[in-house]
Amino acid sequence: MCGIIGYIGHRQAREVILNGLKRLEYRGYDSAGIAVIQDGLGLYKKRGKVHDLELLIQDLELNATSGIGHTRWATHGVPSDVNAHPHTDSQSSFALIHNGIIENYDVLREDLEKKGHTFHSETDTEVLAHLIEEIQKMGSLGFYEAVQQALLQVDGTYGIAVVHEEYPDQIIVARMGSPLLIGIGEDEFFVASDASPIVGYTQKVVYLEDEEIAVITRDGYEVSTLKNVPHTKEVHELALSLEQIEKGGFPHFMLKEIFEQGDTISDCMRGRVILNENRIQLGGLDGYVDKLLKARRIIIAACGTSWHAGLVGEYLFEYLAHIPVEVEYASEFRYREQLIDENDVMIVISQSGETADTLAALREAKKRGALVIGICNVVGSTIARETHAGVYTHAGPEIGVASTKAFTAQVTVLAMMALLLGKENRTLSEESMKELLSELDSIPEKVNEILKDTSEIERIASLFTYAPNFLYLGRSYNFPVALEGALKLKEISYIHAEGYPAAEMKHGPIALIDEHMPVVVIAATDHTNEKIVSNIEEVNARKGRVISITSNGQSSVNRLAEFSVTIPETHDCLTPLLTSIPLQLLSYYIAVNRKCDVDQPRNLAKSVTVE
Ligand code: G6P
Repeated sequence: MCGIIGYIGHRQAREVILNGLKRLEYRGYDSAGIAVIQDGLGLYKKRGKVHDLELLIQDLELNATSGIGHTRWATHGVPSDVNAHPHTDSQSSFALIHNGIIENYDVLREDLEKKGHTFHSETDTEVLAHLIEEIQKMGSLGFYEAVQQALLQVDGTYGIAVVHEEYPDQIIVARMGSPLLIGIGEDEFFVASDASPIVGYTQKVVYLEDEEIAVITRDGYEVSTLKNVPHTKEVHELALSLEQIEKGGFPHFMLKEIFEQGDTISDCMRGRVILNENRIQLGGLDGYVDKLLKARRIIIAACGTSWHAGLVGEYLFEYLAHIPVEVEYASEFRYREQLIDENDVMIVISQSGETADTLAALREAKKRGALVIGICNVVGSTIARETHAGVYTHAGPEIGVASTKAFTAQVTVLAMMALLLGKENRTLSEESMKELLSELDSIPEKVNEILKDTSEIERIASLFTYAPNFLYLGRSYNFPVALEGALKLKEISYIHAEGYPAAEMKHGPIALIDEHMPVVVIAATDHTNEKIVSNIEEVNARKGRVISITSNGQSSVNRLAEFSVTIPETHDCLTPLLTSIPLQLLSYYIAVNRKCDVDQPRNLAKSVTVE
């Protein structure tokens, strides 16, 4: 979703900002813009890629050492040059960039129009710029005070950065519901919506909290609340390195991230799977395990791929620890009758740690007294900070918009949590624990085995590149994998795909099956194998094209399926960690064949910070 970068210091602002915007591209966007202060305000914006903006300004003589830049993902108003950020006041004396949504923008706009303001864009952001102008004019206030007052009048969410031509040595930033951090360098400062654009310049950051506003100058920064209470901020050290966010020789971030999964699953388990003591150690849950065991139920809330990981978690918690689990779309949960209280535990799962709906579900559950535990990838993200306790996935930065390594890391964390609780709850014998821990420990090696030879998946992808529809079927632990496989294909190749529990096929999707319909059948769990074999027969009887994902030993499936991708065997409950990999690759190769923008698929955003 929209991205923010700002700079003030001694370097050429244009370079820092363009580099930053390129690093923000992964969030998903449709236009980009930049404002610098150099003999007045210089403002340049363009629909399209950051590269288009770069071409627009490449011949300009820009010597500014401060400025702001933005990638926009349209919410109010179509993607266009004029709707791109930054936006300005009527005199174009200041420029503002904004992530989030000003919910009362229409009321404010009507009022401002009556007062003579003319708007050029359809955005909510431009309303904020004019509101600041109006307040400054009417109240004879300083610019900073006017920004402060304007923010007190808006409803909704924002992360903003503002530069003013009369104050070339300052950037004003503020946050409400949309992440923002200040990077601290040597005589230079950065502002960004996440750490990726500033890595390589500095590792020191402070995270702004909701309702905080800051003035950044060349000499330092001051943070206070919107109501002027000064705040001293803790400086954090980023664990992110430059290499981690570069492609490392792969043509796309997504492929790099798929291939990293042997390592990321290992990183996720490091120091947590203690084989010689036959136990799981999750420091982030210290002091909370009892509450989890006594929970009336666990509610898992998440969105997108993280929701699919949550569904796998439901099977794992119920099977290994006998704890009842409900999995909710965070966006639905927050608007339902709230029957959650202190007897329940909520687990929120989020790669970015910033998804607006997941954050809202978390806050709702917390307000009603439930213990809230987070499973996040981005260290220091809002969700990670607001939960009572949590477990990081440690998958490293995920740049490809379609989530891959974050999913397998989330499932790994959920498996570790379920094993920990199963052992404590005595629903797992020492013997079973031992077997499962050693299976879990061998998963990275098995992932690497799948990744060693991708030729069969590439061949299947080339045969089905132009299929208009796909059906994905799975049972039990692999039903959520079917959903995830279908989502991956939709996201990056724009092919219509649906995931179904295999037995549900008879209740509708079977009507779609003919000789043109590829049906991906995930048949890797022993205890549902016979049933899945019948499902394959049913597809074959209607001339559907079965592509099966099976474990080595499942010869009956391999015999019946037109195409088979075999994966190493593991315990049934851990199969999603393996079956998801060929499905990620299948969607990747199909999208590449279709010449789609794999890392930045149209209309999608990496981190959905609006509701
Ligand atoms: C967006 C992303 C998905 C992601 C979902 C939830 O839709 O494109 O890849 O699964 O948000 O994001 P989260 O960061 O909360 O896991």
